[in-house]
Amino acid sequence: MGVSRGGFSSRFGFIMAAAGSAVGLGNIWGFPTQTASNGGAAFVLVYLVLAFCLAYPAFMAELLIGRYGQANAVTSMQKMSRNLWQKRFAFVIGFGGIICAALILSFYGILAGWMMAYAIEPISKLLGFQQAASWLTVQSVPRDLIFSALFMMLTIGIIRRGVEQGIEKWSKRLMPMLIGLLILLIIYVFTLDGAREGFNAYLNPDFSRVLEPDLLISALGQAFFSLSLGTSVMIIYGSYIAKKENLVTLAAQVTLIDVSIAFLAGLLIIPAMYVAQAQGVAIFAEDGSLISGPNLVFDVLPSLFAGMGDIGVFVAFAFFVLMSIAALTSSISMLEGPVSFVVERHNIERKKATTVIGISILLLSAIIVVNFDLLFGLVINVSTVYGQPIIAMLCCIFVGWIWYRNEILAEIKQGNEDVEHSFFWKIWPWYTKFVCPTAIGLVFWHSL
Ligand code: PHE
Repeated sequence: MGVSRGGFSSRFGFIMAAAGSAVGLGNIWGFPTQTASNGGAAFVLVYLVLAFCLAYPAFMAELLIGRYGQANAVTSMQKMSRNLWQKRFAFVIGFGGIICAALILSFYGILAGWMMAYAIEPISKLLGFQQAASWLTVQSVPRDLIFSALFMMLTIGIIRRGVEQGIEKWSKRLMPMLIGLLILLIIYVFTLDGAREGFNAYLNPDFSRVLEPDLLISALGQAFFSLSLGTSVMIIYGSYIAKKENLVTLAAQVTLIDVSIAFLAGLLIIPAMYVAQAQGVAIFAEDGSLISGPNLVFDVLPSLFAGMGDIGVFVAFAFFVLMSIAALTSSISMLEGPVSFVVERHNIERKKATTVIGISILLLSAIIVVNFDLLFGLVINVSTVYGQPIIAMLCCIFVGWIWYRNEILAEIKQGNEDVEHSFFWKIWPWYTKFVCPTAIGLVFWHSL
């Protein structure tokens, strides 16, 4: 099976693919927004601590499961099971993650469709198609259906090509573009009036808020969403990594890229808001907090771009292309979870499985679009607020309590002989067994 199921051809390919999954709307939109509404740099600090102390070890657990099992999430976890009950438990966790990925993709595709519509808008304005331009920026069922479908076609197109020619090749192309665009935009915004005030607001911590339960919960949720945990995605990506690679450092590199891009996105978005304010755009909500959520991305920033004159067209285009790319490298990972399951468990050909599953998820998006007020928030809550932390916690429990310690250690040692002498080697199995589930459980309990 090993050869025929394919895998990443290089270390760089894996890093780009996993960072591509991790870096998405969660980093460029979610993180700056949460930071703005949770006391600026205090949130950033808490986020950093949680990302490295809780999300990173949980991320390692998922990668290890996949690399050990060399298969989709369910099969991999079942290979670690020793009796029927454990196999059933493995099925629940693995399949739960796959469903979670499908649910996330169903709303993520709608958001990504908005980004694409907003990317085309400035171009159609430039070409003189005023009516088309205003249609593109007003939420409507036809617009949302068309653009979610377009986005899903792109996602399906990449996943049909498989791991190396699809996921890896496209992540290697798109991720450097994303980083380049992000840096250019930051430099440009930095030259505008008002940006400095934004930097100060972003980088001055309000330490009094560091231990607020709301802040902790948001930071943990953000860290798990951002590393794509609890969705079977990192298990399947782990299964495509060669045995000779060192998982401990690979996972650390991906976490570092993910956190850095979130931090950079904050350097773009928050100063941009203050530049908008300098131009007369309202950036504070009635309660005095910074505007966040959809209003930030679809009102405040477009008003800012519109106020920039001719260059604003290109800046707006670049910004929404950046968002669309970030979304695409994440959405392909969400589709790979369910596709790999169906291909490996039911022996269905990859191209066929991809198209059928992609279209089914698109139908779900269509149902959400038509019942937007009822379903959009609900699906986000079920999948990201509850689903992801619970499943990620169960993965840690599975690794810590069901897998044999010597097998875990043997898997970590593959590609990493020296690990035996490191601090990590000594504490990680214990840490995953006790600390991760307890901490995730506590934060989660608190949020209820
Ligand atoms: N990590 C992605 C982001 O930050 C979202 C994601 C969640 C991707 C779950 C895959 C699985 O936007």
